[in-house]
Amino acid sequence: MCGIVGYLGQKQALPFLLSGLERLEYRGYDSAGVCLQENQQLRIVKRKGPIKVLEADLQSLKFNSQLGIAHTRWATHGQPNEINAHPHYDCQHQIAVVHNGIIENFQALKQLLENEGHHLVSETDSEIIAHLIEKFYQGNLEEATLHALKLLEGTYGLAVISAQENKIIAARRGSPLILGIGHDEVFIASDVSAVVEYTKQVVYLKDGEIAVITPQGYQLQNIDGEDLQAQIEEIKWTVDQIEKDGFKHFMLKEIFEQPQTIANVLRGRLFSDQIKLSLHFNPRKVKKIIITACGTSWHSSLIGKYLIEKIAHLPVEVDYASEFRYREHLINPDDLLVVISQSGETADTLGALRAIPASETLGIINIVGSTISREVKSGIYLHAGPEIGVASTKAFTSQVASLILLALYLNKERTGNLDLELVKNLEDISRQVQIVLDQAKQIKKISQSLLSAKNLLYLGRGINFPVALEGALKLKEVSYIHAEGYPAAEMKHGPIALIDQNMFVVFIVNHGPIFEKIISNMQEVKARGGKIIVICDLENDVLKKLADFIILVPSTSEELSPLINIIPLQLLAYYVADAKGINVDKPRNLAKSVTVE
Ligand code: G6P
Repeated sequence: MCGIVGYLGQKQALPFLLSGLERLEYRGYDSAGVCLQENQQLRIVKRKGPIKVLEADLQSLKFNSQLGIAHTRWATHGQPNEINAHPHYDCQHQIAVVHNGIIENFQALKQLLENEGHHLVSETDSEIIAHLIEKFYQGNLEEATLHALKLLEGTYGLAVISAQENKIIAARRGSPLILGIGHDEVFIASDVSAVVEYTKQVVYLKDGEIAVITPQGYQLQNIDGEDLQAQIEEIKWTVDQIEKDGFKHFMLKEIFEQPQTIANVLRGRLFSDQIKLSLHFNPRKVKKIIITACGTSWHSSLIGKYLIEKIAHLPVEVDYASEFRYREHLINPDDLLVVISQSGETADTLGALRAIPASETLGIINIVGSTISREVKSGIYLHAGPEIGVASTKAFTSQVASLILLALYLNKERTGNLDLELVKNLEDISRQVQIVLDQAKQIKKISQSLLSAKNLLYLGRGINFPVALEGALKLKEVSYIHAEGYPAAEMKHGPIALIDQNMFVVFIVNHGPIFEKIISNMQEVKARGGKIIVICDLENDVLKKLADFIILVPSTSEELSPLINIIPLQLLAYYVADAKGINVDKPRNLAKSVTVE
């Protein structure tokens, strides 16, 4: 949830620490701090608020240091304030720590430390790590850190420095951490995006690994201090990919990238006569599929259920990872567990993957090298590039496109049949998504009518019910307007009571067998004075009469329609939020990657 960076090298540490923090700000941004080592002293500066507050205050201070660590925080234990911000000192200000994750036994350890005379100042679980290291410190930072780590229960990605030694100790258990390898310098970060500007060579720390970084280089160890071999990997993403490309916000840039990102999922996998996925299970043996995920990824999972049941005729269950992980797991040996996560780090999704005793697991993941991607037996990478906007957009459509491929693949492998019309329409889908994007100006105009709205209902049926859920989630995430998604026919079982002249109802409709039924739902809304926005692939006189606004989208197979119908909903949410002056990429209280339960 939070971001960590660190530097040891020949250059000044501060410029990298600050630029790294800025890159990670999307992971957590309620406070930030740096610690630099200078003349055998540690100096910590931290501030509440976004990184620019810290940056402004640092400008008046002079530093000369080639060794430092820094952190941007999204509060879990204790208020977002300067005291709770990282880094944290020990009693003597000889040791400083930055930490991501949660120390579950921190109350017990805090008590123990206080009984021994340690004075802790913050409400965080992280501060105890600095004091534990102090407790064991006898002139060797890695030895003391290893001692301390053995007492911790819970998760961490952390970096530690001391006043006396020219080294950084980094450790990972359950919270991501990487080393960026430069010339005579080593960078530490909780996410590759922080280092990509400086180096393309990275080492992904695995759970249980500790890195000792000195001016001579770095060495990996296990928790018992035994040396391990490091594997250097090359980052393929460029700085340009990470930057905004001239768009006002990352969210808008990412919405507009979708023709490309959907094409990326299909490339090398979709062929006119076959679907190529390198999966390590036998599709013919699978009897049931269970999909688990959180947030937007849970919405794409619901679409996945519809797709796999319809195309591959296999039963699918979908569950929130946070619920599923703690339930009775009635798994059969022939069940396939699918986990969907953009980040590959979401704590509940990872927890579910680890808790559920499935013999076959498949991850649909964006971030290469992420924890979930390493722990599943088979995987489909989204190849969507970094998604920086906290509200997920392009990852959603890439997940849906992957699920379409999976459904087609399963059916082909099990029956030999491939739905050629669907394949043909899929080949054309990026072009159709672009047609919707080309209507952005009109959608922006419609969004202006929503600025004073307090409540919205999003209604869809069948495969477009999850699209309604996702449209409503997008709006509430970025505009702070209350919105709910419902299956259209369920409206009469409750939500209809809310409808009056202040209520906007967004209908997602495809021309097909239930078109007329949705028209009846619209009439019910109209009769109560509600305002209607329709996303539809057909415009007729009845619709024109009922709807206040119609957004006409291209027609495709029903199975592919979510890829098209979600686009206007993403744009609506974005334009409303932007017009309200909200920091769209970092909406309040939300984080991009939720690595705590
Ligand atoms: C957070 C993000 C959402 C995301 C969810 C699941 O809540 O703000 O945008 O959908 O986590 O994330 P994942 O990385 O597992 O897809």
